[in-house]
Amino acid sequence: MRQKTKFRRKITKNYEKRAIFALQILNNFTNKKYAMASQEDVFKKLVAHCKEYGFVFPSSEIYDGVGAVYDYGQNGVELKNNIKKYWWDSMILLHENIVGIDAAIFMHPTTWKASGHVDAFNDPLIDNRDSKKRYRADVLIEEQLAKFDEKIEKECEKAAKRFGESFDKEMFIQTNGRVQEYVTKRTELHTRFANALNDNNLEELKQIILDYEIVCPISGTKNWTDVRQFNLMFSTEMGSTADGAMKIYLRPETAQGIFVNYLNVQKTGRMKIPFGIAQIGKAFRNEIVARQFIFRMREFEQMEMQFFVRPGDEMKWFEHWKSFRLKWHKALGLGDHKYRYHDHDKLAHYANAATDIEFEMPFGFKEVEGIHSRTNFDLSQHEQYSGKNIKYFDPELNQSYTPYVIETSIGVDRMFLSIMSAAYCEEKLEGGDSRVVLKLPAVLAPVKACIMPLVKKDGLPEKAREIMNQLKFDFKCAYDEKDSIGKRYRRQDAVGTPFCITVDHQTLEDGMVTIRHRDTMSQERVSINDLHGIIDAQVNMKNLFKKIVE
Ligand code: GAP
Repeated sequence: MRQKTKFRRKITKNYEKRAIFALQILNNFTNKKYAMASQEDVFKKLVAHCKEYGFVFPSSEIYDGVGAVYDYGQNGVELKNNIKKYWWDSMILLHENIVGIDAAIFMHPTTWKASGHVDAFNDPLIDNRDSKKRYRADVLIEEQLAKFDEKIEKECEKAAKRFGESFDKEMFIQTNGRVQEYVTKRTELHTRFANALNDNNLEELKQIILDYEIVCPISGTKNWTDVRQFNLMFSTEMGSTADGAMKIYLRPETAQGIFVNYLNVQKTGRMKIPFGIAQIGKAFRNEIVARQFIFRMREFEQMEMQFFVRPGDEMKWFEHWKSFRLKWHKALGLGDHKYRYHDHDKLAHYANAATDIEFEMPFGFKEVEGIHSRTNFDLSQHEQYSGKNIKYFDPELNQSYTPYVIETSIGVDRMFLSIMSAAYCEEKLEGGDSRVVLKLPAVLAPVKACIMPLVKKDGLPEKAREIMNQLKFDFKCAYDEKDSIGKRYRRQDAVGTPFCITVDHQTLEDGMVTIRHRDTMSQERVSINDLHGIIDAQVNMKNLFKKIVE
């Protein structure tokens, strides 16, 4: 039962994202087609930019990398740390009833039995016997659905050329015979697929693959194995074999470290319900299909907060956290239109509400964060499996109960990707010049200010160092004296530095410097004494926190 439900929960999420009527998809698709093509280009450039400027490198690249594992470089780690600080402080500083923990990655294996992950944290996989390649069965079928979309889109494109200005896409899709044929076929496939997912019917998934003559992209054959469940947890052994090694898992979510510590924290912190426990840490999933750069990784980082509430109060808190988390995202100023909620219609048996916050990535709206009302399922399971009483005694009600839990769960890497996608910008400048600029929120930028002596002599480097020494205690600063000022500006634009400060001969006379603003490229003369205030006004997280709580 649990396996079935968990499997269903996972695939239902995918299915729901596709469960839009064909026409809606098509309209969207045709409207956005050209924009999408260039967006793909932009995405490729972004990935290259991340590597070229020290944000993200393929892991162990000198050995040709490891699939879906990435390393963060000198700028990436600063951005990542700033994201984590923004999240952590928004939980811990802004809420007197939320505290943090840092649980170990290795946990007692029974944890994962109790949580249901051992039995049911699965994806449906299928192998091609000829190429020996492994695929996710649901992804193969989703790609087949996308082929129908492409065919319809091609017909629309041809018709648009034929009819010119007077072309009415919607009308065309609804009335053209060939397009209608594709729409019908797509809907048929979609319905079968949805039913198979919902019924956890692995035979039917395989049958769909056979009926639609889906071939392996490598071997080109239909020589498929049966569809099997594949557990996404990585396992290893703890202890030497002589001692009797124990099979343990790399945690696939950080949340369980919070659940098993809930009573320790409640008691030692004298926490009263409602209260929350926050944690940031690595999670590991052996994703079968890992694509889209750092969007789906095998080793990634989560920022999770479990909020423990009285039974019956959970919906009130669920709404509260939905709203709070969206405000947190929007305060960054990447554009309110880039976010949307995606409520789950079908829920796992232990959840009574769930929603995703999606962000418009270059490859469409994608989940960045999940907010789940998990009832008392996890705590009850741990109580049952451990045999320990972990109920909470509520002094106001004078009764004991197992608290209900609202979870907010966001991937650091996905957050990183959403910020980089929104920030990456190619601009044409006057005089035929161009620049690549990362318009990162100033609070998150890896480097806040770059100090530049106009020339490498006449005491200007010394003055520049003096300024840097004043600022470096509060802000991550860089120093650059190489090449022309224009080239130095471009270097800082490319890593998203909000301020460049130039020291010139006049500075030595009047204590004034030129401050150049990244996004507008405007420059002004300001006193060295005012620099701290000018930078602080833009990069202090306090300003974002005020927006969230006001
Ligand atoms: N504790 C609940 C939980 O783990 P989830 O929806 O599986 O829920 C939460 O994951 C968040 O973790 C996602 O919204 C996403 O941001 C991130 N995440 C999940 N799998 C990921 C992966 N393979 N690579 C990168 N981030 C991932």
